[in-house]
Amino acid sequence: MASQKFAEQLNVQIGNEFAAHHQYVACAIYYDALTMPRMAAFFYRQALEERDHAMMMVQYLIDADVDVAIPGVEAPSNTFDDIVAPVRLALDQEKRVATQINELTALARDEHDYASDQFMQWFIKEQVEEIATMSDLLTVVTRAQHDVEAIEEYVDRELGDVGDDATAPSVAGADA
Ligand SMILES: [Fe+2]
Ligand SMILES: [Fe+2]
Repeated sequence: MASQKFAEQLNVQIGNEFAAHHQYVACAIYYDALTMPRMAAFFYRQALEERDHAMMMVQYLIDADVDVAIPGVEAPSNTFDDIVAPVRLALDQEKRVATQINELTALARDEHDYASDQFMQWFIKEQVEEIATMSDLLTVVTRAQHDVEAIEEYVDRELGDVGDDATAPSVAGADA
């Protein structure tokens, strides 16, 4: 049984993950409009990952027999100054989420809720990877901002779909 305090905070985090989903959809659409299909595909894929994060948290709460209330989300940024801006925003977002994930983990430990602590460990690893990916992408996009094809080439070569992660928590509805 998950601690009540942890369950409430995890329910808040579901909203943060859906907000990240919306933001990445907005980034994808921006690159799609600029005819940067690789960057667009990368952000559409990132958006789906964020949606899955939210639904992993939904599944965890369902399994813990806790009531889930899907939170509303604020509108994402839809306009950007240049092609670097969405990636900078994405990196900031991933760093913010990493802090939220760490705080959730600390809360689980404070509450002696070690099952929830263990559930959070996958997300800690995920945030390390996402920050590294976005940080590298920001370097490339900043360096090549006047060479769109070089950016597209990099994304195509380095940031393809990595497929399923067998260690990932279950996504609610995935087997439905
Ligand atoms: Fe996420
Ligand atoms: Fe993320």
